[in-house]
Amino acid sequence: MTIKILVLLLACGLLVMGQTAGREIVRLDQGWRFAFGHAADPGKDFLFGRGMSYAKVNSWVGAVQPGFNDATWRPLDLPHDWIPELPFVQSPYSEELKYHGFKPVGRVFPEYSIGWYRKHFFIPRDDQGKRISIDFDGVFRECYVWLNGCLLGRHEGGYSPFGFDATDLINYGAENTLVVRVDATHNEGWFYEGAGIYRHVWLIKTSALHIAKWGTYVTSEVQGKSATLKIETEISNDSEKQVVATLISAIFDPSGKDAATATNAYLTIGPWQTMTVRQSVKISEPVLWSIEHPALYKLVSTIHQESKKVDEYATRFGIRTILFDPDKGFFLNGQRVQIQGVCCHHDHAGVGAALPDSLQYFRIKRLKEMGVNAYRTSHNAPAAELLDACDELGMLVMDEQRLFSSNDIALDHLKSMVRRDRNHPSVILWSIGNEEGVQATERGRRIAQTMIRTVKALDLTRPVTYASNSGAYEGINEIVDVRGFNYYLGEIDRYHNEHPGQPLFGSELASTLSTRGEYAADEKRAYLSAYDKHKPPWGQLAEEWMDFYLARPWLAGAFIWTGFDYRGEPTPYDWPCISSHFGILDTCGFPKDLFWYYKSWWTKEPVLHLLPHWNWQGKEGQAVEVWAFANLEEVRLILNGRDLGVEKVPKYGHAEWQVVYKPGKLEAIGFAGGKEVLRTAVETTGEPKKLALAANRDSISADGRDVSLVTVSALDGKGRPVPVAQDEVFFEIEGPGRIIGVGNGNPSSHEADVFVPVALWRAIEGWKAVELKGAIKEIPSFAQLESLGGKAVRIEAGASTMPENSVYAFWTSFDLSQDQLTKGMTNLTVGQIDDEGQVLLNGQFMGITNDWDRAYNFDAASVLKPGKNELVVVVENNRGPGGLGRGFILSGGLSQPKAHRQLFNGLAQVIVQSSGTAGEITLRAQAEGLEPAVLNIKAVKRD
Ligand code: GAL
Repeated sequence: MTIKILVLLLACGLLVMGQTAGREIVRLDQGWRFAFGHAADPGKDFLFGRGMSYAKVNSWVGAVQPGFNDATWRPLDLPHDWIPELPFVQSPYSEELKYHGFKPVGRVFPEYSIGWYRKHFFIPRDDQGKRISIDFDGVFRECYVWLNGCLLGRHEGGYSPFGFDATDLINYGAENTLVVRVDATHNEGWFYEGAGIYRHVWLIKTSALHIAKWGTYVTSEVQGKSATLKIETEISNDSEKQVVATLISAIFDPSGKDAATATNAYLTIGPWQTMTVRQSVKISEPVLWSIEHPALYKLVSTIHQESKKVDEYATRFGIRTILFDPDKGFFLNGQRVQIQGVCCHHDHAGVGAALPDSLQYFRIKRLKEMGVNAYRTSHNAPAAELLDACDELGMLVMDEQRLFSSNDIALDHLKSMVRRDRNHPSVILWSIGNEEGVQATERGRRIAQTMIRTVKALDLTRPVTYASNSGAYEGINEIVDVRGFNYYLGEIDRYHNEHPGQPLFGSELASTLSTRGEYAADEKRAYLSAYDKHKPPWGQLAEEWMDFYLARPWLAGAFIWTGFDYRGEPTPYDWPCISSHFGILDTCGFPKDLFWYYKSWWTKEPVLHLLPHWNWQGKEGQAVEVWAFANLEEVRLILNGRDLGVEKVPKYGHAEWQVVYKPGKLEAIGFAGGKEVLRTAVETTGEPKKLALAANRDSISADGRDVSLVTVSALDGKGRPVPVAQDEVFFEIEGPGRIIGVGNGNPSSHEADVFVPVALWRAIEGWKAVELKGAIKEIPSFAQLESLGGKAVRIEAGASTMPENSVYAFWTSFDLSQDQLTKGMTNLTVGQIDDEGQVLLNGQFMGITNDWDRAYNFDAASVLKPGKNELVVVVENNRGPGGLGRGFILSGGLSQPKAHRQLFNGLAQVIVQSSGTAGEITLRAQAEGLEPAVLNIKAVKRD
């Protein structure tokens, strides 16, 4: 490779992930440009749909065109969810606003519902002859994808992976331009969903003869001390010639050793044909995948053509058995396992739906600490990396389809979910839907039948289920393999008696409501107490449902709603509440007190946890309700050395006292079998004196993707965390890292989650305009124009700002503070100008432009000044409608906003991401009146 090409590849942000014979997998996450379009105004939507768009393969105009100037679009890396960047709003015109967390996306917010993404990348000339495809793991929600000005494809559906064969449109030995217009106007759910390209994008290069996408499928049958693996491999011959191929399937055991190999030679595959090859191998003494020991095997499939290796494809899988028994519940590898599950949505504090991969691992680990062994991907197909985390860490999965329907779109989503996920040992159930209005009807049954048939054609090894919120049998429930109950505890016994042959489990229940660190409901601030006291009319307290399920071994266990709080669906409150309270952990993954309730009954570790905190200044002499969550027999409580007595801990319950508050130390001692097992205490702290930062990982990969989750807290003079601290904390970062989001778990916080680099943007509305009659000898000055008065410019959708054969002056002013001006390049972009425009900034001539499709950039650093800045654009229009279309953007050297977040009941979170190079990242935290904190995280180059 020449240095020039290498430089170009790096400049284009092309990072090669894996390259094996014939196959190259390239991440396309880095180096995109982003701008908001407009769902109602083509003029503000980069001319989307104007002109003859569909008429000819490359007749799309505006931002689709490779030559479009995207220099002023915001640079960013994927995954990206633009919703966290928007303000919180309340609008009487949008019913769905509340469900999505009061962010302005949807039919009544066209200005924030369209996002445009552009990326340039280089494809070497040598790639000619290869098949090249572009795969998207998830885009919310509808998108157009163009390559080099031609429409590559469209996709509808916010959660399903999709991809396109791009071979015909590639520029070989040259730059390629990929453009994606994402439309998040429509929602698919009643919860926060995200917007944008919020999962990974891949460029896949293969030989013409290759393994098809998701084209391997491994199933296992365990018999005594051995297992028979059945391997199905789809081999595609995307060429004009018939070929003779050899498939070698090599199995490697969890320690990486060769375990078995199967070879099929002389496979004759016709032109443009795909052949499915079936092989079978025996593995002796297989290491089984389980929750405690998630052992993973690897299948490496290689394709040879005339003794040349042309493709290699790796598939991870596990060997295990699963069974749902109507009388005895769920069995993994022959052992009964009680499902201790959580339902979860897919967003996290700070980043919304765009989770870096390591954040998926963080969340699954947190759940495992609590004793969770099963995860329901409610109510949509998850990111592939979430399943990777579940495979690796030992977490069962109920994999759920978003759209319950047998239309083509929904079946397409269902097929891609099953094909993509069927090798994951963690997946034990396919769910075709949740709480549908048609669930108990003949129509519901027919739709379900088609969906079940679709699943079974692709995988027969897992049962199909449905999450039903009724006690009815008719309809969908009649035909699913395993019946999921959402809530409706009162119907379960009757149902089981009437249908004893159908295995049952709780697909959703509890919906217990609590706010981390709050100990009284507060309607005004929209908080609930963190004791186990609040539930919606359809839900259960934690202590209510545990007994019920554990007393019925024929129930396979249950999934509680939810593991983590999520944005949207504020219940029971409305504005100012912007997120749910159902989580056992908050949106950052900070545990609420109920975390220890579940941990005490879901793990074998001894647990003793006291609540509330002991900072009740002002409540001296008043009774405080004290609870202990413990899996021990009894707990003794001691306040400042005074014995307050011993309480028994009922099974699946808690111990409780009324304690007259006195500051000091409240201590609990837990006993089992008459012996002391654990001690814990809560102490009255002093005022916050200094900040503290703690990273979940102090070393991350220097790959531009990996993250460390930093917990921010405030300590008193004795170094004790202050549980009631609410200080506003400001963050600064140095070195090869960036802050990609902040959060604190406060369900009523309207603070910013992300701090996007500043650009000052002014739409054309609000400018003034005046027609200049006669030949213009000199561009009028701002002052002259002001004296002429002019009229305010308004752009109606699709209309121009001036008539044909006229000359107009447009002018506006904007203020800059000294603080906003920094040294270095400051970019002024003015656009779009039709036909010809001259630009004057603070009386200085900046240049002349004449292309409607483009926005023009000027180096304005030496011309800008603190205070009022004056901008004049004179446009001459000779042909058709025209004018000044898009206002201006100032970007570049403006000083950037400082990330900040208030502590909520003592805690906040900062997500620090590697920016791509190795070195030491330094995060600093400051708050008024507190000693600052500094934390170092290493970004290390790993292979
Ligand atoms: C269920 C529903 C969930 C969520 C939950 C809140 O009925 O399936 O998506 O809305 O209620 O309690």
